Parts: sequence; C-alpha cells; structure tokens
Amino acid sequence: MIIHINLFAAGNTTEIMDAPLLSVQRIDKSFALKRKFFSSAPDACHAVRDVSFEIHAGETLGLVGESGCGKTTLARMVARIERPSSGKIYYRGIDIFGAKQAELREYRQKVQYIFQDPYASLNPRMSAGAIVGEPFRIHEGRTDGESRGDLDGLLKMVGLSSEQKNRYPHEFSGGQRQRLGIARAIALNPEIVIADEPVSALDVSVQAQILNLLKDLQDRFNLSYLFISHDMGVIRFMSDRVAVMYGGRIVEIGPNEAIFGNPRHPYTRMLMDAVPSFTGQAVKREREVFVSFGEGERSETGCLFWPRCPEALPVCRETAPGIAGIVDGHLVACHR
Ligand SMILES: Nc1ncnc2c1ncn2[C@@H]1O[C@H](COP(=O)(O)OP(=O)(O)OP(=O)(O)O)[C@@H](O)[C@H]1O
Ligand SMILES: [Mg+2]
Repeated sequence: MIIHINLFAAGNTTEIMDAPLLSVQRIDKSFALKRKFFSSAPDACHAVRDVSFEIHAGETLGLVGESGCGKTTLARMVARIERPSSGKIYYRGIDIFGAKQAELREYRQKVQYIFQDPYASLNPRMSAGAIVGEPFRIHEGRTDGESRGDLDGLLKMVGLSSEQKNRYPHEFSGGQRQRLGIARAIALNPEIVIADEPVSALDVSVQAQILNLLKDLQDRFNLSYLFISHDMGVIRFMSDRVAVMYGGRIVEIGPNEAIFGNPRHPYTRMLMDAVPSFTGQAVKREREVFVSFGEGERSETGCLFWPRCPEALPVCRETAPGIAGIVDGHLVACHR
C-alpha cells in the first residue's frame, strides 16, 4: 500500500521516523537499441527489472553485482537523471517523477551523487574552491565571497585544507579528488547520498581512508547511502543492508549479517567466493566471477541465473522465481 503523505509539511514525528526516506517500487527500465539490418540481436536492453527496496534515514543500503547488471541505471533513476519505464520512486511519500517544482528543488538538494571517477566529474578548469562552492551558488544564489566561510569548513570536513582551494583537479591525487567530490556532494546538507563505485578507481590503501570518511560523515549528519560496489569486502564493510543484483533484478536482499552469515541465493554465494580485494586477502577467483555476461548467459524464460547456476532445478528453466522473505527482511528470489 502506498501512503501519500506530504512529510515536508507533516508535524507527526512518529510518521517521519517510521516511514522510509526512499521507497523504490517495482521499477523497470528498458533502453531501446538501434536495430541493425539482418541482425537477430534484441532491439531493447532490459537493464532493470521489477526492482523494489526502501532506504531509511541514516542507513546504508549496499548494492552489489557484476558489471552490466544495472546498478548505475538503478542509481540514475533514484537520482532522477533517468526515468523508469514503469514503477514509482517515493521520497518521503512524494512521487519524484510527479513532483511539483518546489518539491523537485528540494529533492535535488537532498539527494546527491558521488561518482566513481571524480576526475571525469570535476570541471578541470575550475579551482577546488569553485568546484566545492558551486552547489551553494546554484541552489542558494550565494556568491563565491559569501560561501567562503562554509567552504573552508567543508574542505576541512573531508580532510583537505583551505589553502588547497586555489588548486585545480589535476593537482590533486585520486583520493583527494574523491574528497572534493564528497565535499561537493555534502555541501547542501543532503539526506541521501548515492555513491556509485566511489572507491573502485583508487588504490586499496586509499580506499579505506575514503570509506572511513564516508562513515564519519554518515554518523555526523545521519546520512543515508545507496552504496554501489562490485567488491563484496567493501560492501560488507559499509552496508547495514545489502541488495544483490543479477541481470537487472534484485535476487537477494537483507541485513548485512544475514547476507554474509547466511547467503541463500547461489549467485550471492558465488560472489562470496570471489575474494574481495579490500579486506587484503589474496584475490583469487574475482576475475572468474566478475565477467560481464553476454545476453546468451542470461535466460529470458525462467530464472535469469539458471544457465550459470550450479544448483538449478528443472523448474528454474521454466518459471522465474518471485522474491520472497525468509526471515526479518531477508528476501531471496530462488526456487531452492
Ligand atoms: N543509455 C543506455 N542505452 C542503452 N543501454 C544502456 C544504457 N545505459 C545502460 N545500458 C545497458 O544497461 C545495462 C546495465 O548497465 P549499468 O551501467 O546500469 O550496469 P552496472 O551494473 O552499473 O555496470 P558496471 O559495474 O560496469 O558499472 C547494460 O547492459 C548496459 O549496456
Ligand atoms: Mg555502473
């Protein structure tokens, strides 16, 4: 049941505490592909399939899955960069694709995005100060001079010094550039931060620093994270709850301890065997599992995963399993 309450205006605090900040309901996304003559290739890419989840205030939902499984597409819909083909996304009870201008303005402020490669997302011709101060200027109409006080504080908060604000992106290390990206994301006091592979471009030693910074900021500002990674070690370290995606679907979702202590989907178990680099253990099977799959490895009838599943049953070829609960918020889409 969808409850449409405008919580921006609500005075009932229990409602605010119980209601999820973000509710994603049965979203689907297909991209039309240019059809080539005499080609039997499919003319659409079904990137996200019937995905639902919620994010509560102050929690991290980790999203994990191999390359091409739809993580970024999903994140871009939450950020309202992309529109779902069907389904709804509610922020504090408000349908973000049917929202009024004022609500949208607030949403753009409250939901921020941290990109994998900060270098690509930072304007090379802008100084660090201008980059981090830009959100203030856009959203609050303040000039450089007026926002400087906040700016120094922000830079300090992410572990940079105010002297560094006259430098340009190429003068920073990868980790420092990601700190700039984070400062920019938190500048407007957001509630939800979408971090799309924020550390995969960084050295392992720097990864830990950035992850710790994200955790500190979360504690300080009660941020909610939609945290995307293909590294199970990073996901385990960061997440309160974990969603495992395969072929555009969430195949398993649950609390961190349930997913790592009692993984139920064969694909989740396969990911567990791929040793995470972040925890410092030897990387052994990572490449075997994190191969980007072609259409042929996905099944269009039955379970998407059955062609790769070591435990497939005859029914798995015929019918797609629905996602169902095991215990307390631990759900899995598997006939087994
Ligand atoms: N604009 C687009 N047009 C057509 N297909 C797209 C578009 N964007 C994404 N796709 C396709 O959707 C699928 C999911 O892509 P997406 O980028 O969401 O995956 P991902 O899980 O983020 O992968 P990675 O780990 O490599 O970042 C892929 O098959 C991709 O080719
Ligand atoms: Mg991606």
